[in-house]
Amino acid sequence: MTVSVSDKRDAHDEDPNGKGKAAVKQTNGPSYPFYYPYFDAEEKFPPKEIFEFTDPGSRADPVKPHLLTANVITKDISPYIGTEITGIQISGLSKEGLDELALYTAERKLLIFRDQDFKDLGAERQIEIAKHFGPLDRHFTAGNVKGYPEFVVVYREADNDRFRGFVGSNKINGTKWHSDVSYEKQPPGTTFFFILDQPETGGDTLYFSQAEAYRRLSPEFQKRLEGLRAVHSSVEYGEFSRKHGGPLRREAVETEHPVVRVHPVTGEKALYVNPAFTTRIVGYKDEESEYLLKFLFDHMLKGADFHIRASYRPGTVVVWDNRLTAHSATGDFDNSIRRHAVRLTPLAEVPIPA
Ligand SMILES: [Fe+2]
Repeated sequence: MTVSVSDKRDAHDEDPNGKGKAAVKQTNGPSYPFYYPYFDAEEKFPPKEIFEFTDPGSRADPVKPHLLTANVITKDISPYIGTEITGIQISGLSKEGLDELALYTAERKLLIFRDQDFKDLGAERQIEIAKHFGPLDRHFTAGNVKGYPEFVVVYREADNDRFRGFVGSNKINGTKWHSDVSYEKQPPGTTFFFILDQPETGGDTLYFSQAEAYRRLSPEFQKRLEGLRAVHSSVEYGEFSRKHGGPLRREAVETEHPVVRVHPVTGEKALYVNPAFTTRIVGYKDEESEYLLKFLFDHMLKGADFHIRASYRPGTVVVWDNRLTAHSATGDFDNSIRRHAVRLTPLAEVPIPA
């Protein structure tokens, strides 16, 4: 989709470091115009290459003395997934603290940091922090930030609702469950999402633990799934962008991943299929594949006792492990309200089969 809101683009250009937002704040415009979604249909990236990856969580002290310091208050949201954290700034963490953040995220699947200064650090520093967890994905179709293709921008307001356009305007509800860019050969691990403008109520993100979803299955069924591989595809995303005159910065891909993957640090097993990107089970006939995937999706999405929702306040940063969780946005707020958020997506290992 070509964005034609020139006043906001200009505001972006005036503020290349993402700082000084007060000077460029638009009347009724986004609070952080620097991060207005940028779509350059001419932007191109080379195909991805395999890289060596060591998860920073593997270096972490399990006690996490640099992260869970005396002032930190943690509150688990549910037994299986999610912890809310106050009393520490991600921006102030040492390398050891960031390693511990990776481990804690893997253990709790999702961390919600409140009252963070992260959104005001400027693009360079935000990228520097996220890169600690792996080389950053540059999305092949999503809105990014001009000059900083490492950002994925999630933006919705009255005159810009690409989200609904993609989910489909004839859908009863707007949920679209996925793990981010699971079609990549090396999909993401520890992932950062920070909010810039949010509705007073609504616009939460739904999450569930794919590890708990795996654990719930019988040992016999678990055995049947281990060794299976599934295809994850970005073709639908690529087609959507192309049809709407948006960028296709890299060709769409189809990648086989294990249906059950193992976390490289904790050794935990998790289901790794999702309804947005997983298209078929390798080696199965069509009906067999549809049958199994339908069962797995139903099982994961109906398991409300291993689901949570993350709410946003100004300053909230959510960190999740994309290897162990799936999520969906909720488009439950009025169309006239702006929601603006940004994702940084460190890529991780080639998924390890169970
Ligand atoms: Fe996502």
